Amino acid sequence: MIKISVANQKGGVGKTTIAFNLAQILAGKRSTKVLAIDNDPQGNLTSSFIENSTELAANILHAYDGKPVGPEPVTKSLSLLGSNIKLAPVAERDFQIIFKLKEFLESLKRGSAFDYCIIDCLPSFGHLHLAALNAADYVLIPVKPAPYALAGLKDLFETIEKAKKYFNPDLKILGIVINQFDGRNLVLEKEMEEALRETYGTLVFKNKINKRVKIEESPAFQKPITDYDPKGRSSKEFKALAEEILIRIKSLEYRGEKNGGKKR
Ligand SMILES: Nc1ncnc2c1ncn2[C@@H]1O[C@H](COP(=O)(O)OP(=O)(O)OP(=O)(O)O)[C@@H](O)[C@H]1O
Ligand SMILES: [Mg+2]
Repeated sequence: MIKISVANQKGGVGKTTIAFNLAQILAGKRSTKVLAIDNDPQGNLTSSFIENSTELAANILHAYDGKPVGPEPVTKSLSLLGSNIKLAPVAERDFQIIFKLKEFLESLKRGSAFDYCIIDCLPSFGHLHLAALNAADYVLIPVKPAPYALAGLKDLFETIEKAKKYFNPDLKILGIVINQFDGRNLVLEKEMEEALRETYGTLVFKNKINKRVKIEESPAFQKPITDYDPKGRSSKEFKALAEEILIRIKSLEYRGEKNGGKKR
């Protein structure tokens, strides 16, 4: 199982939107099983998948409490471990909780056969965020081309370096996704995109996601953009991004194996 944490401590950059759509696109591929984990007490990913999320028994909170919990199937190829506001106090617990999500995913491995696990992170640098960095193989970073985006990324990269140094040496940055490219302030956005590509080079995915109302609407209908507006431009953008992400994973996994890394 390849575990990807979708992270950025900045709020509203598109973590949940990208986690939701990517999980659905991957699960739509032949013989691919996906586990989506909502690691954010806001529960936005959970409500993108299911309408009445308050009754969801498969809550990631149980994993942090060390209680038995299994993912709930949403479709044949996609399962969810959701969350709600009750997860919030977990972030205040002692440092040990940063190991819980990893332990839980390891215990799961024996009984289930997911190909990908997509973990939606909360906008914070706290213990829940560290738990997601500890549990993941890769970090996928959505950014909005807006002022302070670069400064925010610098802080995030430093945190990822610390996570690698102190508890997850195999953690890799999968890449940076430019999201919510608006075009209303084209000069500024283009400058931001150039600065991002100059600073982070090929880490920035070629395919970006433009800002469109349909993307904003689709989770309210529990639909990924590829179902909500299958022929629209956003659907094409998301599919192209997913393909680029898959190619990158393949090449990183290949390099990892060649360098003697473990085969997942
Ligand atoms: N490409 C896009 N086009 C239009 N709206 C978008 C796009 N990406 C995200 N949004 C909207 O922007 C808002 C923030 O997105 P989202 O919730 O995915 O961000 P987030 O990083 O998960 O936020 P948080 O930090 O609060 O968890 C949402 O209303 C979402 O629908
Ligand atoms: Mg979110």
